Amino acid sequence: MLYNDDKNLDSVASSIDSPTADLSSMRGQLITFEGIDGSGKSTLAMMAADWLRARKIPVLSLREPGGTAIGESIRTILLAKANTAMCMETELMLFAAARAQLIREIIKPALAAGTWVICDRFYDSTFAYQGYGRGLDLDHISHLMAIATGGLKPDRTFLLDVSLDVAVSRLNNRPGKADRLDQEDAEFMKRTRDGYLAILAAEPDRLVRIDADLAENDVLNQITKCF
Ligand code: TYD
Repeated sequence: MLYNDDKNLDSVASSIDSPTADLSSMRGQLITFEGIDGSGKSTLAMMAADWLRARKIPVLSLREPGGTAIGESIRTILLAKANTAMCMETELMLFAAARAQLIREIIKPALAAGTWVICDRFYDSTFAYQGYGRGLDLDHISHLMAIATGGLKPDRTFLLDVSLDVAVSRLNNRPGKADRLDQEDAEFMKRTRDGYLAILAAEPDRLVRIDADLAENDVLNQITKCF
């Protein structure tokens, strides 16, 4: 894979090669990727993880919901097209349950061991989809997220912000991949995107807006500049 931001590569590499840098004793960073469906976030999360690994940073790549045996079972329930009867409160709590498990079983031990964790979606997805998208109460979601996360926050969140037109055309080029949650209409997609932008405005130090209309390598460059 080609990466073309050598200045940044050098600065990351030199901090790692420095005799004072003892990565094994440092807490890992929790980096999350967020965005609406079709933003390209899953691809970019993988590319960013590869970029870090190429710089000898230990990285664990995870996706939500999932990442543990219990979480993958919950994911199957959440995404099954047959589950049309699922009410939004059930959906909310299943996402929270999968996250609670992932944090305790995998994320916290990894961070404590100095491993960086790249997570494809985290709690911002719940605010954007169940809160802004479905209209569930944001304060209730905050309380539930406090239980699910035990207070763990990402060190950095990349918001892959894609225009609705580009997202729709990308999704149309992914035949046969639609799941229960991909059945939502354009209005839902717009509310979710607006929700993400509201989260960005509220937490500009944690979230970084990435222009995700661009080609993959250009998107990756925007991301690696922030490492
Ligand atoms: P997934 O196949 O991982 O989609 P993507 O590759 O686009 O991330 O399915 C995850 C779906 O679950 C996606 O439509 C977003 C939704 N979701 C929520 O609604 N709330 C959440 O808290 C999370 C983590 C995901």
